[in-house]
Amino acid sequence: MEIIIVADADEGARIVADQFEQIVREAGSTGATLGLATGSSPLPAYRELIRRHRHEGLSFAACRAFLLDEYVGLPAGHEQSYHRFIRDNFVSGIDIDDAAVISPDGTADDPAVEAARYDAGIGAAGGVDLQILGIGSNGHIAFNEPGSSLASRTRPVVLAESTIADNSRYFETREDVPVQAISQGLGTIGEARRIVLTASGQNKAEAIAQMAEGAVSARWPATSLQLHPEVTVVVDEAAASRLELADYYRHTRRIVDHHTGTGHS
Ligand code: PGA
Repeated sequence: MEIIIVADADEGARIVADQFEQIVREAGSTGATLGLATGSSPLPAYRELIRRHRHEGLSFAACRAFLLDEYVGLPAGHEQSYHRFIRDNFVSGIDIDDAAVISPDGTADDPAVEAARYDAGIGAAGGVDLQILGIGSNGHIAFNEPGSSLASRTRPVVLAESTIADNSRYFETREDVPVQAISQGLGTIGEARRIVLTASGQNKAEAIAQMAEGAVSARWPATSLQLHPEVTVVVDEAAASRLELADYYRHTRRIVDHHTGTGHS
């Protein structure tokens, strides 16, 4: 796991966007398969990618994308659905084909059947080339709450009380927050070829420390990422504040930058 501690949101956005740009350019006309996340954490990177699309000719026209999750009960057009969120905050600003941006159907009659269908669809598309992730203050990734099997597949899940409280800021009342979702599993996410996780703020500090340095355990679901060989974590000073090895990560970055001449500042 490569941990990059950044000075501010702009620097973090550039580093995350660089990873997307590399994957998209490498795939060329074949098109990359992107794994997209909702929530506030990826927004600076999405804004930077929209800027590169508009001003630097970065094209997503050949790409396809899979979302991590969707609320059970919310139709695609609902203003708080993740189907809508990703369009409002990213997809509408780039040239990806809208029909190639896929998410679970939160209104399916049988969410378990829909979840299995969705999971198989990711595999049939050849898997995800680059997955972006946020992290919950309780250590969840997607909606894999504490207690999730490290091998879990896409499935219906019940949201933790703390997640409902965190997400109630998007809804009029706490009672309006759906209590279930269809979420990619930890096993599903772990099949992405590359992963970049980004977090900021003090309320993520314990989750980040557990994820990077704690014992691998269902208690902190993001620890499953320790088993993946290609994970980059981009965090600000506040989110990094409980990392015991923070000095080592800074030292590593100085040495790597010196030898590659990338010189992130
Ligand atoms: P946030 O949510 O990016 O809005 O902080 C992350 C998450 O809960 O996974």
